[in-house]
Amino acid sequence: MINIERLSRNIEELSKIGRTPNGGINRFSYFAEEKAANELVKQFMESAGMTVHYDSVGNLVGRLEGASDLPAILLGSHLDTVPDGGRFDGSLGVLSAIEVVHSLKENGIMLQHPVNVVAFKDEEGTRFGFGMIGSRAVAGSLTRKDLQRTDDEGISIEQAIADYGIPRRPLADSKLENIRLYLEVHIEQGKILENNGVSVGNVTGIAGPLWLKFRLKGQSEHAGATPMNQRQDALVGASLIIAEVEKTSKHFSSAVATVGKLSVKPNGVNVIPGEVEWTIDIRDIDEDIRDELERRIKQFAEKIANERHLKLEITELQRVKPIQCNEGLQNIIKESIEEIGQPVVSLPSGAGHDGMQFNGLFPIGMIFVRSKDGVSHNPGEFSSEEDIEIATKVLFKTMMKL
Ligand code: GLV
Ligand code: MN
Ligand code: MN
Repeated sequence: MINIERLSRNIEELSKIGRTPNGGINRFSYFAEEKAANELVKQFMESAGMTVHYDSVGNLVGRLEGASDLPAILLGSHLDTVPDGGRFDGSLGVLSAIEVVHSLKENGIMLQHPVNVVAFKDEEGTRFGFGMIGSRAVAGSLTRKDLQRTDDEGISIEQAIADYGIPRRPLADSKLENIRLYLEVHIEQGKILENNGVSVGNVTGIAGPLWLKFRLKGQSEHAGATPMNQRQDALVGASLIIAEVEKTSKHFSSAVATVGKLSVKPNGVNVIPGEVEWTIDIRDIDEDIRDELERRIKQFAEKIANERHLKLEITELQRVKPIQCNEGLQNIIKESIEEIGQPVVSLPSGAGHDGMQFNGLFPIGMIFVRSKDGVSHNPGEFSSEEDIEIATKVLFKTMMKL
């Protein structure tokens, strides 16, 4: 039904683009490596029989016509990575979707529905602290104001798009109309499937990421000449707040919160840190719990800032609502898993995915693939060829049922 050798070859070839010395991958949006990845995947799409174009934000969009003009089935994922990321996060979803289309074409099967496969721009949010750029555009919710967000070098998304070589066009051009539903294959990035001894899983819902940027300003002074009781050390303040992020999060069983990026100014051995900036990523499948955790963290941060005479600024980078996967679609995915002879395991996703942007527009469904040791956002990310084959077959079967 599907050609696993071809799919594995494509995964291997794509994983060579942006390879780091650790064996991980750096592909950040609108940079050369990410562009090369898109160009390679464009060839895969063309070989699979799709017509392909780049939209106004640089999403790579492949299209296979159906037997009728019914609304299209949308498949996709992303090609960008986190710093030193793995080879499966995102890439697998794009390549397995292309493999399904290739197999349909090869076997002379024409679906009633047309199929769109999209490699969405910047799902991870690594470069601009703002993720799912491409899927926001496809959903029609990306604004010109969003494009003014900048990376660490001060380059805006708008500028990055221009530098990438995309002529300025209305953002509305990227909105995909007439979509029936969205399906995505992704690695689990957790241990539930592994602990259950199964290859694949049906996703019930996705936890919503809230990203905040904290900036604490104090006074940079001489590390030798300033007495301990006369300091406004921004890093000590930040450390107390960061420790509290972990402590408070543990009061909620399902919530998670992470400080993953931090910068210290002026960053000298013998200078008291005058300014610290860091991010906090807060998530829960229950929005109220997430927002309560946010409130507690902010309250504690204000207390520390007051006590230590530091100036606190908090900026919201992105706030994505948790979503539920469509019940009907979940049932079809579960049936497909059963027909392949696998036990059905349903699970929520802790990681964010492009499909979240389609909340309220059309139904979404996701198929998870077992991750070895649950490792992801790490060069050691691994899913076996056997599990990938099963997941791609589940996607194929699900499409046939539609
Ligand atoms: C992407 O992997 C995210 O969940 O942030
Ligand atoms: Mn991903
Ligand atoms: Mn990811």
